[in-house]
Amino acid sequence: MLSTSYIFLAYFAIIIFVFGILCKVWKYAVIPNPLKIPLTPAPTNTIGVILRMVFEVAFFKSLFKSNKFTWLGGCAFHLALLVVLASHIRFFVSPVPEPIMLLQTFLQSISMFIGLLFIAPLVYLFIRRVWVDRTRFVSIFADYFVLILLFLIGLSGITMKYLIRPDLFAVKTFILGLISFSPEPIPTNPIFITHFTLILILLIYFPFSKLMHGCGIFFSPTRNQIDNPREKRLINPWDKRII
Ligand code: HEM
Repeated sequence: MLSTSYIFLAYFAIIIFVFGILCKVWKYAVIPNPLKIPLTPAPTNTIGVILRMVFEVAFFKSLFKSNKFTWLGGCAFHLALLVVLASHIRFFVSPVPEPIMLLQTFLQSISMFIGLLFIAPLVYLFIRRVWVDRTRFVSIFADYFVLILLFLIGLSGITMKYLIRPDLFAVKTFILGLISFSPEPIPTNPIFITHFTLILILLIYFPFSKLMHGCGIFFSPTRNQIDNPREKRLINPWDKRII
């Protein structure tokens, strides 16, 4: 019974996640940009805009300029997230490709560090929200919720790794079963069930949350516009009929 409910919930979560993101990205893409508002100093050609985006997405350049500690926390968290997700690939593919096996062996040697690197910045970002007056003033429930959700995901992951080991073979069988539409029972380890439930909550919540910033940044007019108002006249999309 528990297994069946989880299997339905998992497919439901994946559908919401994928269609939710596609709908949001579509909405971002078709929304009109009536004004030239690149944040200056801004690039004056397409190559410049691409470079600006790369620096923004890979190195959080604007955040670096505004707050060095938060930048450090943000970088540490996103780097750890990348490594954690890479180390999870082994649950989703069979047989595991050679490069992933090599990466896995390397990650194994720094794994405690990775777990800490994942949750420590979340603790810092949470304390900062509660502690710094002007950050607390602009914070809403959603800001705390997402930090707590990610923290609990990390904590349950670390607990599985060091305290209450799940049967990793059963975990992989369960995940591959979901992927191949021939579902297998969910492993009974309570921490795995907690980890998995939190992931499903994250998947369902993701398209409606501020975590969509990862997609939204590419559509941000202050960052993706070329600074060429003198060379090329911008016409409001809804003014075209009049001109
Ligand atoms: C369906 C997807 C997922 C499954 C089946 C899964 C399963 C697991 C398992 C079995 C472990 C223990 C690993 C071990 O013993 O070596 C683990 C660890 C962990 N998981 Fe997940 N997980 C999933 C998704 C995620 C996601 C999306 C995140 C992050 C947002 C995440 C964050 C973590 C963290 C931080 C650890 C601790 C890693 C470490 O310390 O090396 N997991 N996960």
